[in-house]
Amino acid sequence: MSAAPLPPAPEASFASDNAAGASPEVIEALAAANAGPALAYGEDPWTADAVAAIQERFEAPVDVLLAWGGTGANIVGLSTLLQPWQSVIAVDSAHVIVDEAGGPARFSGSTFTTVANVDGKLVPDAIEPFVGWLGEEHHPQPAVATISQVTENGTVYSIDEIGALADRCHAHGMLLHLDGARIANALVASGATLAEMVRDTGVDAMTFGFTKNGAVFGEAVVYLRPELAAHARFVRKQAGQLVSKSRFVGAQISALLRDDLWLRNARSANDRAAELTVAVAGIDAVDVVRPPEANAVFARIPWDRLDELQRWSFFWPWDPADAQVRWMASFATTSEDVATFAAGLRQLLDAGVGQSER
Ligand SMILES: Cc1ncc(COP(=O)(O)O)c(C=O)c1O
Repeated sequence: MSAAPLPPAPEASFASDNAAGASPEVIEALAAANAGPALAYGEDPWTADAVAAIQERFEAPVDVLLAWGGTGANIVGLSTLLQPWQSVIAVDSAHVIVDEAGGPARFSGSTFTTVANVDGKLVPDAIEPFVGWLGEEHHPQPAVATISQVTENGTVYSIDEIGALADRCHAHGMLLHLDGARIANALVASGATLAEMVRDTGVDAMTFGFTKNGAVFGEAVVYLRPELAAHARFVRKQAGQLVSKSRFVGAQISALLRDDLWLRNARSANDRAAELTVAVAGIDAVDVVRPPEANAVFARIPWDRLDELQRWSFFWPWDPADAQVRWMASFATTSEDVATFAAGLRQLLDAGVGQSER
């Protein structure tokens, strides 16, 4: 008997929001910024406009440095805040710990102290065991805590949680850094403004992510207190994050911030993740770990079917020990993609044992 044909695969990839292309508005903005010459290294009107647009969103004269990418922006932000004898506290699941090849540690020369995550989050009490080291010459000096918003586990810190962390850091003379690779998804999930979530809670510096939100490339390092940025431009240059044709980063950021495209993109991604949760709810073999808070769905699947499903429509395993995978929606994911993906999962998984031969 011949094997049943594979179900149609969705056009979109559920592997990562990084797998999507860029927003058409961003591509148009890149083409428009291509007209004529412009001074390099940020001395151009597109960069100035993007910086002003970011400051407007913070409702404050924050210091903004555009950068090439997320790892680089984290390296610049953290390295500016840290001395080599100091340490930064982060959860064991943080991108800066597990997914940046040790770049921030190497570049800052500082110690990166990891603590156990609680649903992907850093909790204020986790800092306490290390602050006793302050002033002791034998120990790395805790100076910064860093968090990711959205977390790598797909959870979203509440305003109160960020505020409590900032308060605890400041009480110990430490700073709070936020990796906002998916800050837009967190904002639409919580209904807060950037000023409420980042400025008013007391975050000191952040990476403002655009790549996962519809840019081709480009992020911003934002210092909420200008004195923290005193040496930031030298750090950015040394880290290779000063973009020579900065106008092309500026143009993308302005296009995303214009008419709140960044928030509409993030809302769409979050909504598609919620839709996917509903769409797979009736598949016996799929067990969604928790309702998505932003644009990632974590689910348990029969692990022996993983290869087969990946060959059909690739996605990443998340926690093999718990048979968990991650499905991620992006700004470009459509409801049709969600329906096609869920229907395919249902067909393949309901077909059960034996289908893995296809
Ligand atoms: C939480 C987080 N931080 C930072 C980044 C930035 O990484 P990249 O250097 O690939 O832009 C990512 C990308 O996946 C991420 O998920």
